Amino acid sequence: MSVQPVTSQAPTSDKGAADKAASVAPAGPRILAVANQKGGVGKTTTTINLGTALAAIGERVLLIDLDPQGNASTGLGVNPTEREASAYELLLDETNLENAVVKTVVPNCDLVASSMDLLGIEVALADNPRRLHRLKEVLEACAVHYNYVLIDCPPSLNMLTLNAMTAANAVLVPMQCEFFALEGLSQLLKTIEQVRTALNPGLEIQGVVLTMYDPRNNLSGQVEEDVRTHLGERVYKTVIPRNVRISEAPSFGQPALLYDHKCAGSQAYMRLASELIQRERQLNAASNNEGSAVIEKGEHHGG
Ligand SMILES: Nc1ncnc2c1ncn2[C@@H]1O[C@H](COP(=O)(O)OP(=O)(O)OP(=O)(O)O)[C@@H](O)[C@H]1O
Ligand SMILES: [Mg+2]
Repeated sequence: MSVQPVTSQAPTSDKGAADKAASVAPAGPRILAVANQKGGVGKTTTTINLGTALAAIGERVLLIDLDPQGNASTGLGVNPTEREASAYELLLDETNLENAVVKTVVPNCDLVASSMDLLGIEVALADNPRRLHRLKEVLEACAVHYNYVLIDCPPSLNMLTLNAMTAANAVLVPMQCEFFALEGLSQLLKTIEQVRTALNPGLEIQGVVLTMYDPRNNLSGQVEEDVRTHLGERVYKTVIPRNVRISEAPSFGQPALLYDHKCAGSQAYMRLASELIQRERQLNAASNNEGSAVIEKGEHHGG
């Protein structure tokens, strides 16, 4: 199956409309920060497996591991010894994106690895007035080869997560199906609002993904209902089940989709990727329509 990049969805039968749509289509990749300050909710697992699923259906994907724990890097088969330049050097402007990118075990899916040095990033960038814009500047310089950039954030609303949110078009929030799922959500939404006001006016919430769903546990169903009631359409229809193959895969340095593509968890991440692409198309079409309306209004006033 092959899917066109999200930036080129204009109908080919109507050249005028296609030209208009192209002129307002967003340039460059779609950048998503995978964030939730709660620990262990499935951020890294979602970044790795969603990235792999998008790559498997023909998208060119870059994953950025912004977590000093480096789980996304090891989970993609990139060991600490192989990491010549990491996100740390990139944020410090000691290297460029081209040099920091490494191939992973997944074709079409590249990685900027993490390193423990990221623990010291707040101190290293303390005197830099552009410290919260560093990742944005790096990606603006040369990320055009990719359709999607997924940024795995640490479990904290710190400078690394703020860099991700400043660089991103939108935030994807994994939420574990457990009793305290909604706890901390208001803090996350408040932070997104603050970033929107002060750093990145275009930042949206791309969606919420329910993870580690256990159908045998009544609580999972109740949590799902609760989250959907609170967050409505933002919550993806696709729910990621709790699945042992998903938790085994990282110790083999592989995404679940390579380790066992038939398991329920891998299949769910494939469905999530399809739903995400569909959602992106709708967003893109809506913004193109808005753009066309603005152009038409301008033409009308101008003529
Ligand atoms: N669908 C799933 N089924 C079973 N285990 C899962 C699933 N998703 C994640 N896990 C396991 O749960 C743990 C936490 O997942 P993950 O590392 O993706 O969360 P995280 O939000 O990135 O954590 P942190 O906040 O520490 O960065 C891991 O051991 C992972 O293998
Ligand atoms: Mg993680």
